[in-house]
Amino acid sequence: MAERPYIVGNWKMNGTRAMLSEARAIDRAAQRYMKAEVAVAPPYTLIHAVHREAEQIGVGAQDCHAGAEGPHTGDIAASMLADAGAKFVILGHSERRGDHGESNELINAKIDSALEAGLRIILCCGESLDIRDAGKAEDFVLDQLRASLPHIKDPIERLTIAYEPIWAIGTGRTATIEDIKAMHAAIRKLLDETYGEEASSKVRILYGGSVKPENAGEILSTPEVGGALVGGASLSAESFLGIVVAAS
Ligand code: G3P
Repeated sequence: MAERPYIVGNWKMNGTRAMLSEARAIDRAAQRYMKAEVAVAPPYTLIHAVHREAEQIGVGAQDCHAGAEGPHTGDIAASMLADAGAKFVILGHSERRGDHGESNELINAKIDSALEAGLRIILCCGESLDIRDAGKAEDFVLDQLRASLPHIKDPIERLTIAYEPIWAIGTGRTATIEDIKAMHAAIRKLLDETYGEEASSKVRILYGGSVKPENAGEILSTPEVGGALVGGASLSAESFLGIVVAAS
């Protein structure tokens, strides 16, 4: 398994230039004593500014258009993200799948475009409460991944998976440790079958969904949890660093 836990802050639709001080605080702390790999995904408007501030932490994007630069008003191409300093892009987040009706096909086209631009992928998956309650969560999540993994031929260094049960996002209710353990094991098995155990072992499987400093230690010590994708708690350097310290 990849050796360093990966803690990624997804700022979502939050952040003005006043947030740069938080990014700076996270970066300076990460330089001092963090064993974890730390990154943030600010809104498009702050990617370049955070990149210029960051000496230690990684900077990424929360989405990208599926196509190359061109006549797509209001959209952002993966190559433009790379040019702004982004090193990765989060794709398939449930808020994109849900709010914007993103299909697996569209997500795969975005994956192709992001890889072409040299970006790493954080591929999100996760089930709704109805699917969880119907006992179909693993089938649903593995089907999401089966639809996209063929687009990522070389997973080492290019692929991170983020399992985020939709019902745990922003609710303060995390999945149980048992549920996290079972789902991450199922995802690891699929990665082993797809890429072989050696390559699979380099792919970190993050958990996301109400991760906070007070629950991060237990979640991050669960087998096959290679880090966390953090929303609300990443908006303050203090709470985000509390999670990073728990990972270190
Ligand atoms: O992408 C991470 C996000 O969906 C989790 O959000 O606020 O539950 O940590 P939150």
